[in-house]
Amino acid sequence: MEKSFNIAILPGDGIGPEVMAEACKVLEILNKKFNLKIHTEEFDIGGIAIDKFGAPLPKRTLDGCIKSDAILFGSIGGEKWACLPHDKQPERGALLPLRRFFNLFVNIRPIKLNRALKQLSPLRKEIVENGFDILCIRELIGGIYFGLPKGRNTIDKENISAFDTEIYSTKEIERIANIAFKLSLKRKKKVFSIDKANVLESSVLWREVVTKVSKKYPSVELHHLYVDNAAMQIIKNPNYFDVVLCSNLFGDILSDECAILTGSVGMLPSASLNDHSFGLFEPAGGSAPSLRDKNLANPIAQILSLSLLFEYSLGKHKIAQYIESSVLRTLKKGYRTLDISDGKNYITTDQMGTKIAETLIEIIQ
Ligand code: IPM
Ligand code: MN
Repeated sequence: MEKSFNIAILPGDGIGPEVMAEACKVLEILNKKFNLKIHTEEFDIGGIAIDKFGAPLPKRTLDGCIKSDAILFGSIGGEKWACLPHDKQPERGALLPLRRFFNLFVNIRPIKLNRALKQLSPLRKEIVENGFDILCIRELIGGIYFGLPKGRNTIDKENISAFDTEIYSTKEIERIANIAFKLSLKRKKKVFSIDKANVLESSVLWREVVTKVSKKYPSVELHHLYVDNAAMQIIKNPNYFDVVLCSNLFGDILSDECAILTGSVGMLPSASLNDHSFGLFEPAGGSAPSLRDKNLANPIAQILSLSLLFEYSLGKHKIAQYIESSVLRTLKKGYRTLDISDGKNYITTDQMGTKIAETLIEIIQ
């Protein structure tokens, strides 16, 4: 008998609720067709939770996540809450604590451009002739985002300083490196480890540990790249890359760079996992407040995040594949949301969701 699953749905702020509705459309179709016994429950998070309950991560929401098998997350944040103290803001008061609470140390961001969609890329046609397929593995609960001490010092009446700490231990580097090497075995068997070892002590350790871990994977080719050089090489030849292994900060920056090379950050999904395959799945592009309630946002990152949820938390590879294929096929049919359109011919958020859902039905029939 089919095992049942609970998924906590956290739409959040900005475009979150609109794109989440489209992912839920897709989920409903799959649930019915394959009799999946997936139960969903919605919880407030971020700015909307501040407005309703006075806290960005209310207890009810955290409890709902604890009881679930996976979290499907929309996006949080916006102007309205930007004036609050930092630790009360949606990002630092809800998303980062959730990542930390569930020990979601690995963040997986598949960044693919199919050759048939090369016209979407801002890069010249000859550079993306064959498309590209990069898997960004970002360490998610260490480094400068969480490193202590962080804070401010008063130097004198008119001058203060502020500081953060970039810190990594051998164990933290080993566990993320192992994930990157294991995933590369199912791909082109190349790992590109990103650091700044010509300047930073933490990067010198990063490079040493990654090199040591690589000995366990003799069939995988390891390349070390300084982050500044990597940013440049990715633009010059994205197809050269395969698995890109990064610290928290470098992964945040490089994954956005890679995303835009596919045409829009609105198409970049992400999976944040702990070592029991529990995960939080979210679009990497943010809440895009300027698009809110306009029915113009691209729901693809959210729908592909659902695909990653099936892949990594529920272990249902085939279903993950169906979702990915329906997104690709819908794009190949020529349907575009505003962000990837010529500015004149585009469809709305819910029309795109419906097109993908219809294509999914075609595929699974
Ligand atoms: C991301 C986002 C977050 C991050 C922010 C919202 C805290 O930019 O998931 O990439 O930096 O991790
Ligand atoms: Mn980011």
